[in-house]
Amino acid sequence: MGYENLLVDDRDGARWITVNRPAKLNALNAAVLAELGDAVRAAATTDAVKAVVITGAGEKAFVAGADIAEFVGLSAADAQAFSRRGQQLFDAIAVLPKPVVAAVNGFALGGGCELAMACHLRVATSNAKFGQPEVKLGLIPGYGGTQRLPRLVGRARALELLLTGKNIDAATALQWGLVNRVVDPAELVATVQALVAEVLAVSPAAVARCLEAVRDGLDLPLARALELEASLFGGCFATADMREGVAAFLEKRAAHFTGR
Ligand code: COA
Repeated sequence: MGYENLLVDDRDGARWITVNRPAKLNALNAAVLAELGDAVRAAATTDAVKAVVITGAGEKAFVAGADIAEFVGLSAADAQAFSRRGQQLFDAIAVLPKPVVAAVNGFALGGGCELAMACHLRVATSNAKFGQPEVKLGLIPGYGGTQRLPRLVGRARALELLLTGKNIDAATALQWGLVNRVVDPAELVATVQALVAEVLAVSPAAVARCLEAVRDGLDLPLARALELEASLFGGCFATADMREGVAAFLEKRAAHFTGR
């Protein structure tokens, strides 16, 4: 896994992927996106990887957005394709059947906010800032921001950020439900590791189905979403994890889940 713009290391079942362009506040250029796509594919297909953490190098930024320098000279068709490429990568993160946590260690702006929102859980440092400043550039978000932001924080708050381009601080992001936790920068790694450990202690087969139910169900009418839930609930009964979890409870012992 030799990447030029990413650091990748495995810790206790979690693959930590660090966007590593601190001199450019980890802005996402084409090379970073290609490497990130490769790293996400590798994480998806490697059995030993049970969870993924995405973060940024340095103390200032998670990711300060798409690399604005790459916008120069793009035609409308080029830009549409650029948007689709980023959307597809972030979708690949969102649909991973393994938990993905964004460890947001500073600016999460534009594509950085969109990257964090594509993750399943978000832990932010107290100095983190979130925003979709694209309107200040005459743009709109193109990596899912106009869609994931209102789904996470509601239409009114999303529109406030989208229409003004202003940033919010970590405390506001927590109040709005954009992040799960806010911690001191020195505690970020330990907090994320503890959160990942909590998820890895339960059934991976059930976790994958929870991710699917919430992800797909929220975009369906309630009746269809409840059908999806019932179908996934039924699917649990064909898993070894469910048999083990129920047996362990009844036998008053710890469960040993395999994810099957
Ligand atoms: N694309 C390309 N380069 C970026 C970038 C981006 N999204 N965000 C930061 N950088 C670069 C800066 O150009 C600068 O490079 P340089 O040292 O070669 O000039 C370097 O990262 C450091 O950024 P700088 O602006 O000097 O830091 P700052 O502390 O003064 O400001 C921000 C931090 C995040 C407020 C500011 O960098 C910014 O507004 N970035 C753009 C955010 C944005 O609009 N994102 C959405 C893009 S669609």
